[in-house]
Amino acid sequence: RWGAAVGPRRVLLASPRSFCAGVERAIEIVERALAEHGPPVYVRKQIVHNVHVVADLRRRGAVFVDDLAEVPAGAVVIFSAHGVAPAVRAQADRAGLRVIDATCPLVAKVHAEARRSAARGDLVALIGHAGHEEVEGTLGEAPGATVLVETAEDVARLPADRPVSYVMQTTLAVEEAEEIARAITRRFPDARGPRTDDICYATTNRQRAVTAVARDADLVLVVGSANSSNSRRLVEVAERGGTPALLVDGPADVPLDRLAAARVVGVTAGASAPPAMVGAVVDALRGLGPVEVEEHAVTVETTEFTLPKEVRP
Ligand code: F3S
Repeated sequence: RWGAAVGPRRVLLASPRSFCAGVERAIEIVERALAEHGPPVYVRKQIVHNVHVVADLRRRGAVFVDDLAEVPAGAVVIFSAHGVAPAVRAQADRAGLRVIDATCPLVAKVHAEARRSAARGDLVALIGHAGHEEVEGTLGEAPGATVLVETAEDVARLPADRPVSYVMQTTLAVEEAEEIARAITRRFPDARGPRTDDICYATTNRQRAVTAVARDADLVLVVGSANSSNSRRLVEVAERGGTPALLVDGPADVPLDRLAAARVVGVTAGASAPPAMVGAVVDALRGLGPVEVEEHAVTVETTEFTLPKEVRP
């Protein structure tokens, strides 16, 4: 086979990938608030967990703050897609801030479940990762009644003095979350939970799509930021199937040396990563030689959310 051409490198694009309906809505809320009120418009925390999205909106006049105490009285402040605890809403009220809520409706739904369960007198087991903003918001709905469960082992430590309900962070790895839910129902057979799980359609679809391309790939690149929960889960899901995977924020992070031996490269992006960044990463791969790009779709997404009334046209 001397002299035989190896042929172009294959790039398998997982689909669905990149922005979900909740992220698109959150970004549009900031854009519309900027257009309507003019800069500065304040945003509590990163609107979505992506460095490029945040840098772009900052350039256009959004001011990102960690604490509402940094926002001047009477100013417009947007709550991020990850949601906030009721205590934060109360703080905004007290400070006379004009709030526009960009909480994803699917996160708000989990808040409502947690509230309902706590109001019934249940202990609420919240399956999720400590320190994530979404988890902090959901915990804040009923802080006295909610216990964070990060692993199946944590289930053994739950108090058994009341009925148990469970809810989940929306961006978990489906298999792991279901394993923890099973541990809960094994110990508390009457535990009440969501019909299937609380993991959102976008997280589920992106995990299915990356699983499909990882099977045929030598290496998977996941476009997303380090603090993006759903992006990090995509890396883990690909690796779980035995394919090495890397999280890259953009083309500058693509390790061309590690890619030299990879003939088939899977590419996907977390729900907070811009589609343009996927294009830029594929372009970086062209630096290694010719590529042949194939789209691998496991489903087509049609979900859309309406905008909050404050920015509705
Ligand atoms: Fe919402 Fe899921 Fe996106 S919870 S913000 S649709 S990742």
